[in-house]
Amino acid sequence: MATNGNETIFTMEATPIKYGSGASEEVGWEVKRMGLKRVMLVSDPGVVKANIAPRIQELIEAEGIEVEVWDSSRVEPTADSFQAAADFAAEGGFDGFVAVGGGSSIDTAKVCDLISTHSGEILDYVNPPIGGGKKPPAPLKPLLAVPTTAGTGAEATTVAILDIPDQRVKTGISHAYMRPNRGIVDPNLTRTMPSEVTSSCGLDVVCHAAESYLTKPYNERPKVENPDERPPYQGANPIADMWSAKALEYGGNYLRRAVKDGEDVEARGAMMLGASLAGIGFGSAGVHIPHACAYPIAGLKHEYQPPGYPEDHPFVPHGWSVIVTAPAAFRFTYDAMPERHRQVAELLAGERIEKADENTLPEIIIQLMKDVGAPKGVRELGYDEEDIDDLVAGAMKQERLLVGAPKEVSEEDLANILRESMENW
Ligand SMILES: [Fe+2]
Repeated sequence: MATNGNETIFTMEATPIKYGSGASEEVGWEVKRMGLKRVMLVSDPGVVKANIAPRIQELIEAEGIEVEVWDSSRVEPTADSFQAAADFAAEGGFDGFVAVGGGSSIDTAKVCDLISTHSGEILDYVNPPIGGGKKPPAPLKPLLAVPTTAGTGAEATTVAILDIPDQRVKTGISHAYMRPNRGIVDPNLTRTMPSEVTSSCGLDVVCHAAESYLTKPYNERPKVENPDERPPYQGANPIADMWSAKALEYGGNYLRRAVKDGEDVEARGAMMLGASLAGIGFGSAGVHIPHACAYPIAGLKHEYQPPGYPEDHPFVPHGWSVIVTAPAAFRFTYDAMPERHRQVAELLAGERIEKADENTLPEIIIQLMKDVGAPKGVRELGYDEEDIDDLVAGAMKQERLLVGAPKEVSEEDLANILRESMENW
């Protein structure tokens, strides 16, 4: 088959997931089934306070398995917070890990697993150009992820995101071995989530799915020289499309309801499942412009105190940092694949859209943002036109993500997208 030197192969790897109301009550059974004897339970103070982590600990200990708890995961992990947890992991003699919490706790557990299995400095493994891009030489120890927010899909993905304050940037460690071995997704664990957290997490789900669906297809990328070089984010492919499409449908159908009424069990469950579906989709296809812009938006200034979140430090919730540039980003990418943009608009709107143009999808996203109380744009998060050069420089550092955009993105294009995103309405 003629390939023009393009990739002809994609892979489908996904975390086995147990889903449903009450699924977390089976955590002890699962950890035992994984053959573990002594685990590190990685969580954060909020999840401990909500009595979720202690309950999980109790259920695992009831199976005769030793549990040591690390409850200091930060909402926005840094290399230092990862290092502290990884030191604890390296000294603890654990044969496996259980993460209970939001994306930060799950990412912290991934890094604990990486460093305690293969040693080395965290920065060695961080994506270039910020880190050394070192690849773990062999699989890690077993990790079971129990998410307590419906957003990151971290239970299904191969990345751990961290903040590098002295370089004022967010980046990550990304490798197929970082993917958790199992996930337990229990909507009961999100019951106490404030509506702002539901909003931000849910918009992250929508972006994961939309960006994955609108990423450059795997077979339009250059063929890799050997399988080791095939990136986790491979580009749009038929299998990732199915997961992303379902997640878009759920986001469009249920996010408004889940934000409006935390006791709406059906909506909350659908968003929890949607997060995992989108996680599998973007764990395969990848995300691009909105996520690349989100990292400097979250990393550059730390002034925004988000409503509904703990008030221990100001920060921009991830989902909001992503969604604010999504309308302008998809207006920009429209002409690269108009039909797929129309399909995303249709899935989110939940109705047939016969005719679409570059504004159709952005308008549907903006309406959703308004309905779930998202910030209006980048300005509301503490930035103005004078910050655009810095934001562009930060986004350009996310080369791993930007290569996934369906068309070439220049610094000027990013500046235009950020300028348009100052206020979306
Ligand atoms: Fe995200």
